[in-house]
Amino acid sequence: MERSYASAKLPDCTYQPTPYDGPGRDEVLALRREYIAPSVFTYYKEPILIVDGHMQYLWDDRGRRYLDGLAGIVTVSVGHCHPRIVEAVRAQVGRLMHTTTIYLNPIIAKFAEKLADHFPDDSGLRVTYFTNSGSESNDLATLMARLSTGHNDIISLRNGYHGGSQTTMGMTAMGNWKYPQPVSVGVKHALPGYCYRCPLGLTYPSCNVKCARDVEQLIEYETSGKIAAFIAEPIQGAGGVVDPPLEYFKIVYDIVRAHGGLCIADEVQTGFGRLGSHFWGFERYGVTPDIVVMAKGIGNGAPLGAVTTRREIAESMTQKLHFNTFGGNPVSMIQGLTTLEILDSDNVAAHALDVGGYLKEHLQDLMKRHDLIGDVRGTGLLLGVELVKTREGKEPATDEAVMILEGAKDRGLLIGRGGVYGNTLRIKPPMCITRADVDFLADCLDKVIGAIR
Ligand SMILES: Cc1ncc(COP(=O)(O)O)c(C=O)c1O
Repeated sequence: MERSYASAKLPDCTYQPTPYDGPGRDEVLALRREYIAPSVFTYYKEPILIVDGHMQYLWDDRGRRYLDGLAGIVTVSVGHCHPRIVEAVRAQVGRLMHTTTIYLNPIIAKFAEKLADHFPDDSGLRVTYFTNSGSESNDLATLMARLSTGHNDIISLRNGYHGGSQTTMGMTAMGNWKYPQPVSVGVKHALPGYCYRCPLGLTYPSCNVKCARDVEQLIEYETSGKIAAFIAEPIQGAGGVVDPPLEYFKIVYDIVRAHGGLCIADEVQTGFGRLGSHFWGFERYGVTPDIVVMAKGIGNGAPLGAVTTRREIAESMTQKLHFNTFGGNPVSMIQGLTTLEILDSDNVAAHALDVGGYLKEHLQDLMKRHDLIGDVRGTGLLLGVELVKTREGKEPATDEAVMILEGAKDRGLLIGRGGVYGNTLRIKPPMCITRADVDFLADCLDKVIGAIR
């Protein structure tokens, strides 16, 4: 039965936000313009001032409620200010706010143990180095790979995003995220499994997944023949939710290992049950990496990253001193540990599969109604909607994507956009989102897209 898309009204919510009496939006904007580095950008022509959060909702300074369709930036796994996390963090802050890894602390040990139990039994992925972000974790993962293999070259994928530090900017392969600086030392970029815009102009499955097989040529032509690592997101997030064919990673991993390289899975967006069907993105593709990089959803919003690997790989770093002042601090650790406990006890991944499937059906339905939508991608609660001016020409509809973000915000829905042309809507809400929220989200997009055309 076709849906009516009649109303775009936020579902009721009983939570009462704390009254806000701080500086208003205009004052904060003025301060920000004067004192914050101009490269720190905001969304929206008139940026919003967010002052309260509860589960899947956010409130601005005027008390207006929004459905957070982007989960912070894919950081909030189980809900903004989840009561169990708030309680655990309050208790920890009251007891000990800071210590470092030069002393023993129970929480880092317990969290590392619990994390290890979430990896496949036979993977050997048991030891973790905690950091504060995804960029730091990717830096560390490539360092470990280079040290333990003795090789230098790293292969990442075009359209991938791995961070904003010097090394990770080199592995990121989207021009809009790169400065004209020589940051890509020792990094080669292979072809992504981006079927909607196949880099080889082929069609799946008759293509025989040539994009993946091309990694062999890349290694043979552009490296010494021996590489340190291959790094990729199981589904490219900032690149516009690009999900390669299921056999893609098996083909690439075999090639990489035959050339002495390790495989790094950047699970910063895909991990912790967001794909619904599996806890880790790599499991969806039937492969086991040598190193797993985490951040964002691991801490439900805490500045927390991690690298988990096999002991012999991690041991490569013991030849010198290495230290991270805030990595493993007790406040981030309790936030990560409690998030993981909630993910398990509330079976959050199963919910992401169910409600994410429902959301994807809605998006596919919208695609039938609006020819601005060229493709709907992703799985679980990591979904993308690529906008094109015409379906034949696939010209990126970037301005329209900007307009949709603005229109959705005005109606109480926050979503993101990504891809090298910024024309893919990114819908990645906290995993506590309900079917009623999904109905609102779809109604809202229907109205906003309809208003454009
Ligand atoms: C897949 C992926 N890797 C790494 C990063 C970098 O993480 P951070 O911004 O915490 O440094 C991001 C951030 O968006 C990401 O999406």
